[in-house]
Amino acid sequence: MGPTLRSLHFFYNHRSSLTEPEDTMTPPKSKNITWHGGVVTRQDRERAAGQKGCVVWFTGLSGSGKSTVARRFEQLLLERGRVSYVLDGDNIRFGLNKDLGFSPEDRNENIRRIGEVAKLFADAAIITTTAFISPYRTDRDNVRVIMPEGTFIEVYINAPLDVCESRDPKGLYKKARAGLIPEFTGISAPYEEPMSPELELRTDLYDVDACAEQVLSYLDKRGFFNVA
Ligand code: ADX
Repeated sequence: MGPTLRSLHFFYNHRSSLTEPEDTMTPPKSKNITWHGGVVTRQDRERAAGQKGCVVWFTGLSGSGKSTVARRFEQLLLERGRVSYVLDGDNIRFGLNKDLGFSPEDRNENIRRIGEVAKLFADAAIITTTAFISPYRTDRDNVRVIMPEGTFIEVYINAPLDVCESRDPKGLYKKARAGLIPEFTGISAPYEEPMSPELELRTDLYDVDACAEQVLSYLDKRGFFNVA
């Protein structure tokens, strides 16, 4: 179940700049648990790493270029000596989320878990890129609100459906059209476009390098590589 609009507003206005248990949407099932803060702070880690942790959240249709741009972006960061990590759709479904399918509820849980993992990576001062379709606006917004202000960067990897379908790198659109894959995003399941993403990259108009450079330049301008 997603949050109501009111609860979303509440969390937008009250979210914490620290990793605290209070900023999660749903209370934990466990009782008698205590949150332990560390002696070393996020700021300490960021100073040591010489960069600010963040989550660069790619969203878009299958075949839009999320993984390709994410991998190029990762290379660009490495060339500049930056510590980064990519969490990628299909790979996560082999491990952490191997119990989940593609129903709306399972996608919701997929994104929730990935959001929590990405948040931990970012808290470790890592520039974390996620490449998941994440078709539901509410699921993406739920991740945004658990992140410290300004550290969730939504990037809409936008290519029209017909372009994604003509690329069909895994042959899945063909199967979906033939009715062999139920609930396939863009064909028989919805994709909700971001309303106001931090960045929108048209992968049908610009090449992979140009798109990855744009993400890098966004982080650069906002001081993610500058730690006092
Ligand atoms: S999400 O919707 O929950 O965010 P995720 O990014 O993890 O999806 O996985 C999408 C990948 O799973 C696609 O790139 C594709 O390779 C594969 N896939 C298999 N079945 C489906 C489906 N029904 N809809 C979309 N992608 C699917």
